[in-house]
Amino acid sequence: MIFQDAHYVPALRYHWLTRFYDYVLALTVRELAFKSTLVSQAEITPNQQILDLGCGTATLTLLLKKQYPTTDVIGLDGEGQALVIAQAKAQKVQMELHFDKGLSFNLPYSSDSFNRVFSSLLFHHLTYENKEKTLREVYRVLKPNGMLHIADWGRPSNPVMRGLFLWVQLLDGFNTTSGNVQGKLPEMFVQADFNPVIEQRYFNTLFGTLRLYQITKPA
Ligand SMILES: C[S@@+](CC[C@H](N)C(=O)[O-])C[C@H]1O[C@@H](n2cnc3c(N)ncnc32)[C@H](O)[C@@H]1O
Repeated sequence: MIFQDAHYVPALRYHWLTRFYDYVLALTVRELAFKSTLVSQAEITPNQQILDLGCGTATLTLLLKKQYPTTDVIGLDGEGQALVIAQAKAQKVQMELHFDKGLSFNLPYSSDSFNRVFSSLLFHHLTYENKEKTLREVYRVLKPNGMLHIADWGRPSNPVMRGLFLWVQLLDGFNTTSGNVQGKLPEMFVQADFNPVIEQRYFNTLFGTLRLYQITKPA
């Protein structure tokens, strides 16, 4: 009930579709390419504390731990079913990862806890207000000079990409996705006091243009 009140959208809109999530992503959005790029742009050093926000089935969480085994990586998601899949994937490759169930705009962590926060394909699930609240929470839990690395749907790079993005809007809803496609994310990052706000690169996919950002909590 709390989740419904908070306008919560599961991985593929309906809980029963979550079991197909990994297959859909692998086939449609150049998943390995954009997630590997997101990880490699993050300037991670040994023993850092890392949060994967809205980790879903943990493909990115596992990629982070595999590439940087000495870091502590936590995955947080609001959907129990996604976390069951995440846990099973981690056990299968014998990786020690911690998963928490929770909401991005009310994080169960102390202030200044993480060196890096990652967020892949989460922000288009959030209303404008919850995007703002989530950015405030991430700012709080990041250490000074910590970075938030985001991959999400952004301003389309051409009219074909705009047309393809309608499929995402029909599935996930216009309310949460319109700010993304209007290119509003970077100005929201600035309003939340992140500085600098850097757009790293974009990927055109079968569902529209994915944009990657690196944004920093100033010292
Ligand atoms: C499209 S999936 C992305 C999953 C994963 N990060 C990836 O890139 O494959 C979005 C995920 O965000 C989660 N989610 C949506 N709103 C959330 C919120 N407010 N707090 C935490 N998780 C949320 C959903 O349960 C879902 O697993």
